[in-house]
Amino acid sequence: MTAKIRLRQHTNPLNYRGPYQGPAPHKLLGGPVSELEIGPGLGELLVARARQDPDIRLLGVEVRRAYVEICNESLDKANVRNARAIYSEVRTDLDLLVPDASLHRVYFMFPDPWFKRKHFKRRVMTTEFAKKLTRKLRVGAELHWATDSGILALDIRAHLAQVDNLVQVAEVPEAAWLSGRGMHHQRQGDLIFGGCYQRLPSW
Ligand SMILES: C[S@@+](CC[C@H](N)C(=O)[O-])C[C@H]1O[C@@H](n2cnc3c(N)ncnc32)[C@H](O)[C@@H]1O
Repeated sequence: MTAKIRLRQHTNPLNYRGPYQGPAPHKLLGGPVSELEIGPGLGELLVARARQDPDIRLLGVEVRRAYVEICNESLDKANVRNARAIYSEVRTDLDLLVPDASLHRVYFMFPDPWFKRKHFKRRVMTTEFAKKLTRKLRVGAELHWATDSGILALDIRAHLAQVDNLVQVAEVPEAAWLSGRGMHHQRQGDLIFGGCYQRLPSW
């Protein structure tokens, strides 16, 4: 008989005790991080994106320890060396993990929605975080996000709209269909919301 492991549906990111103590991301990836995925889950997008472009160095920041192991096992199995997942909470550790104006792309796919008002503070995207994340992008670099929740999409859009030097350039990004949740929603024929945003020069 196989033992059943009970996993909570969502992990409360506020329980994370940082800061990140692991190896520096550039050491894990053999050079500076060029792309970041926030909450890679089981790592489908990490594997697909790293295979698609061997020149990128993609860091997955995941607050659920068990998922980090699954991501890295999948990357090893796929013989992919230009992507790695680490156990970290993105809002706590972002400044520690990547310098300002360094990233070419950020992926934020199907974030946990935290529908109850008392849990809103667990959501990753806030106006403050949107501004901080934008600072990590090079001029011309992009932020790609997607969700199946219309309510969460409105919330994310509202926060991103507060950032002066960020402009929306496209709707749902292609990368949405490479993530685990995205593939699931595509099979179900669910409606998906999202956007591709580009960093403009500051003035
Ligand atoms: C609904 S899953 C989506 C996983 C994947 N992006 C996909 O599309 O299949 C959201 C993921 O984000 C992670 N996560 C939530 N809050 C986070 C945070 N503050 N920092 C890092 N990861 C976080 C969760 O543990 C979970 O793996």
